[in-house]
Amino acid sequence: MSLIHTLKVDLGDRSYPIYIGDKLLAQASLLGKHIKGHSALIVSNTAVAPLYLASVQQSLDAHNIRHDSLILDDGEQYKTIASVERIIDTLLQRRHDRQTTLVALGGGVVGDIAGFAASIYQRGVHYVQIPTTLLSQVDSSVGGKTGVNHALGKNMIGAFYQPQCVIADTSTLDTLPARELSAGLAEVIKYGLIRHAEFFEWLELNIQKLIDRNQEALCEAIRVSCVCKAEVVAIDEREAGIRAILNLGHTFGHAIESTMGYGNWLHGEAVAAGMVMAADLSERHQWVDKKVKQRTIALLEQSSLPIKSPSEMTPDQYMNAMAIDKKTVEGKIKLVLLKNLGEAFVTADYNPELLEQTLKYC
Ligand code: NAD
Ligand code: GLY
Repeated sequence: MSLIHTLKVDLGDRSYPIYIGDKLLAQASLLGKHIKGHSALIVSNTAVAPLYLASVQQSLDAHNIRHDSLILDDGEQYKTIASVERIIDTLLQRRHDRQTTLVALGGGVVGDIAGFAASIYQRGVHYVQIPTTLLSQVDSSVGGKTGVNHALGKNMIGAFYQPQCVIADTSTLDTLPARELSAGLAEVIKYGLIRHAEFFEWLELNIQKLIDRNQEALCEAIRVSCVCKAEVVAIDEREAGIRAILNLGHTFGHAIESTMGYGNWLHGEAVAAGMVMAADLSERHQWVDKKVKQRTIALLEQSSLPIKSPSEMTPDQYMNAMAIDKKTVEGKIKLVLLKNLGEAFVTADYNPELLEQTLKYC
C-alpha cells in the first residue's frame, strides 16, 4: 500500500484530517469512515466524472451508503448561484435529509460550489472534499472557504464552512491538463513567498520534477503547502487577520479574472501575474530586495505561468475591480505585499502613485 501523509486542520471540534497520497480513491475506508449518515450526494462535473466517479461510487457501495450523483457543467463560468440551486433541487428531489453528506469530486470550482451548497442545505449538512487538481489539493479544498462568483465580483457569495475531511489522491493529477498543473503551481509558489523561504528554495531546485509529475516531488509539494495552509487557518479561520496573506497576488488576480471574463484566465494564471505585481509594488517601496521579484518571475516562467498582466487592462479597470475585493474596507483597498522572501503582510498603507506605476508597467 502506498504511503499516506495525514495532516490535521486544528479547529477544535471542527478539526479534520487531510489525507495526501497515491491511489487513495481505491481505499474505500478513507471516504467511508467520514460519512456519518446513510446517504450521500456526489457533486462532480462533466470532465472529472467520467474519470473518477465510479471509484467514489464503489467506496460508498462498500459502506452501504445510498448515493446519488449530480454532474455539473465544467468551468469557472458555472461557479454560480444557479449551480448551487441545481444541487439543492437534486437533494430535495431525492429526499436527502439533514444526515446526508455532499462529496465534492473535482477541482476548486466543484469544491467551492458543493461546499457552499452543504453550508446552506437545511442550515448545513456535512461534506467531504476530494480535490482532483493540484490547485485544489494545495489550496481550495483546505480551510473551509466556500462560495460562488457574482457577475460583479469573484467569490462574492459564500460561507466559511469546514469539510469532514480532505482526500487528495495525487494519482488523479496524471490526467490533469498541463496548463491546469501550471495553474496549481502558482498557489504552491505562493506558500514559499508568503511563509516559507526554504520551501521556495526547494521549489527552485525541484520545479522540473513537479512539471514532470514526479509523484514523490508532487506529494512533498502538496504536503508542505497543506501544512502552511492548515497552520494559517488554525490561527485565523475567518480571516480576521493573518489568513489574508494567503491572498498574495489575489487582489490583482481576481481583478484580471473578472475583467477578462471568468474562465479566460485560469485562477492560478491570474494569481501568478498578480504575485509579480505584488512583488513589483513591494520593490517600488523598497520593502524587498530586487532579487525577490527576479526569483519569483524565474520560478513562474519555469512553470509556464504568465508573468505579465493582460496588456489590454488599464489601471482604471484594475482600480474598479479591486474596489470590490473582500479586503476593501470603507473604500480603502488592502493589499498583500512582501517584506522578504517568505514573509508577507497586509497593508492599506502604500503609496498610490507607486501602485499606479505597478498597474501601468507590470
Ligand atoms: P477547476 O475546478 O476549474 O479545474 C480545472 C479544470 O481541470 C476543469 O476543467 C476541471 O474539470 C478539470 N479537472 C479537474 N480535475 C481533473 C483531473 N484529475 N483530470 C482532468 N481534468 C481535471 O479549477 P481549479 O484550478 O481546481 O480551481 C479554481 C477555483 O478554485 C477558482 O474558482 C478559485 O476561485 C477557487 N479557489 C478557492 C479557494 C478556497 O479557499 N476555497 C482557494 C483557491 C482557489
Ligand atoms: N485561498 C485563500 C484562503 O483560503 O484563505
